[in-house]
Amino acid sequence: MQIYLDTANISEIREAASWGILSGVTTNPTLVAREKGADFKSVISEIAELVDGPISAEAVSLDGEGMVKEGLEFATWHPNVIVKVPSTTEGLKAVYQLARKGIRTNVTLIFNASQALLAARAGAFIVSPFVGRVDDTGVDGMQLIREISQIYKSDSEITTKIISASIRHPRHIIDSALAGADIATCPFKVLQMSMRHPLTDRGIEQFLADWKARA
Ligand code: G3P
Repeated sequence: MQIYLDTANISEIREAASWGILSGVTTNPTLVAREKGADFKSVISEIAELVDGPISAEAVSLDGEGMVKEGLEFATWHPNVIVKVPSTTEGLKAVYQLARKGIRTNVTLIFNASQALLAARAGAFIVSPFVGRVDDTGVDGMQLIREISQIYKSDSEITTKIISASIRHPRHIIDSALAGADIATCPFKVLQMSMRHPLTDRGIEQFLADWKARA
């Protein structure tokens, strides 16, 4: 399973890219708005310079035609740009039209397997089920990944990838891999948490103490 970073923060992307683990980046309007005063095109272009993989940029139009118009513009920014559209019937129209023009899409805000099936049928390159937000409703978000994975595997015509999104903690990453996700898109903080273990810290301390005390 590949790891993407879910952020529009350039310092976080630069740091995680230096670890050699990043295969792509996802952004959304909330994440871009968090980077005060940043110009959308400049942010996406800068990310594309740092990470050689799919970079999702989200359209904000609600109608399919508007999403296509935005998507066509985003696609001129960098060949790795993926146009993110919401999981609505208008979103499906945009996916279908953009796919016919060779532009890849990420259908976001997926909360059930039927949305994922229709998005794949329309020609989505990626779908983004939001596991954390499903968990928030008291339903097992990971079950959604399992269902979509099973449906996609049973249909040889579907090549759409599953990004496990709305990741909240390290266990979500591991469970996503086990449930059949192709990618987990993670906040920077969760990636940092994933590499921390008190026994690793204690082991380093012990090794250094023994090294200093050697005869
Ligand atoms: O990739 C989608 C993600 O950004 C949503 O995460 O934590 O806002 O549910 P969250």
